[in-house]
Amino acid sequence: MPSCSWIDTFDRIVPCVVKTRLGKNQSWGQKPFGEKDFPFFFRGIKDLSEFFTDLGPKQLPSYFSHPRYRSSYLLYFMQLHASRFSCVFDRHPDALKLLLTENRLRILDLGAGPGTASLALLLWLSQNIPHDRLDGHSIAFDWYDTNAAIMEDGSAIFDEFCKLDPFSKMKITVNRYRKPWQYASGDASLVLAGNVLNEDSRDATKRISDILSASRPPGGVLLLEPALRNISRGLARIREELVSHPRDPAKPGIRGPCLHHGQCPLGDGRDWCHFSVLHKVPGRIFARYSQMLGSERLRAKFCYLWLSSPGYPAPAPDANSRLIISDNLARQQGRAPRARTDKGLFLVCESGKTQKIQFTTSGGAGRGTIIKTH
Ligand SMILES: C[S@@+](CC[C@H](N)C(=O)[O-])C[C@H]1O[C@@H](n2cnc3c(N)ncnc32)[C@H](O)[C@@H]1O
Repeated sequence: MPSCSWIDTFDRIVPCVVKTRLGKNQSWGQKPFGEKDFPFFFRGIKDLSEFFTDLGPKQLPSYFSHPRYRSSYLLYFMQLHASRFSCVFDRHPDALKLLLTENRLRILDLGAGPGTASLALLLWLSQNIPHDRLDGHSIAFDWYDTNAAIMEDGSAIFDEFCKLDPFSKMKITVNRYRKPWQYASGDASLVLAGNVLNEDSRDATKRISDILSASRPPGGVLLLEPALRNISRGLARIREELVSHPRDPAKPGIRGPCLHHGQCPLGDGRDWCHFSVLHKVPGRIFARYSQMLGSERLRAKFCYLWLSSPGYPAPAPDANSRLIISDNLARQQGRAPRARTDKGLFLVCESGKTQKIQFTTSGGAGRGTIIKTH
């Protein structure tokens, strides 16, 4: 099955848009992306990386007001964030397949930036759904962001992307709203919000509750954020306030990451819920900039909460399944050598508590892996 690839998108379309659109009146905008561009754009990538790591939401400058930072974001962070969405979509394919039972989809992308979550969704569909099943569908993406310029850049990327197979056969529209995400409303099939609560979480619980109960998106609401303790705790609070215990299909519920509807044991204390999943991002530009930043980026790190709407419950998880929420403690304590199979000791999540479980892993098990206890 041919599919429009990650590489087409991020190694070809994005650098071309950066050069032609953001470098329109600049000498560097006249030539295709080449060797000299790596150090040129790296300065912005490094600055942004420091902003995102070191600064709190109130200290963040208005980085998307500067073409230099928008270029750097498009070349590196858009791809990084899209890869985290891919990982979460891979964990919950049912939620996305459910969407295709409707022919006309409306996807809300909150704090859309360049439409990262929307693009990640289209890439996932292209790579995981037979293309003839996509024919005849139309998708309207509604992007909400307080910065108009980054949404315009994202639209230029989308225009090129949608010419690729199989999306040339679908009707795809992007509507841009320069408004706080809290203003998003109306019927939706799915709501995506990536890395925005980290910048503005005002009224988050109330607004998400309103969307779930008024719009009832069949695919629910996915909140995906950086793997930071205070953000993870914020998601745990939203979960506690919105999700019914015990599970009630007529009320908002959970698609993931939790495998139970009981109390979250990670809302306070030493441990916090986040994931670190083995995931290699394809693409030459990403690999090169990761190396320049001193990281191989072999793992996608994030925290998330995917809520289901009343009337659209996620399938009940197997009662014997448990979610690992730690690294291999045996390895950390020096008890298990690195080997193809080794004894693993992991913290798993249960209703209201965590528990240590020992089992033999074939390697690769870690935060986010689901295991069977019987
Ligand atoms: C780190 S970027 C994330 C962009 C995109 N979702 C992604 O994952 O790549 C954060 C975005 O949130 C936007 N933003 C911040 N506060 C916002 C608010 N109250 N309403 C809408 N957008 C907001 C910023 O303009 C920026 O585009």
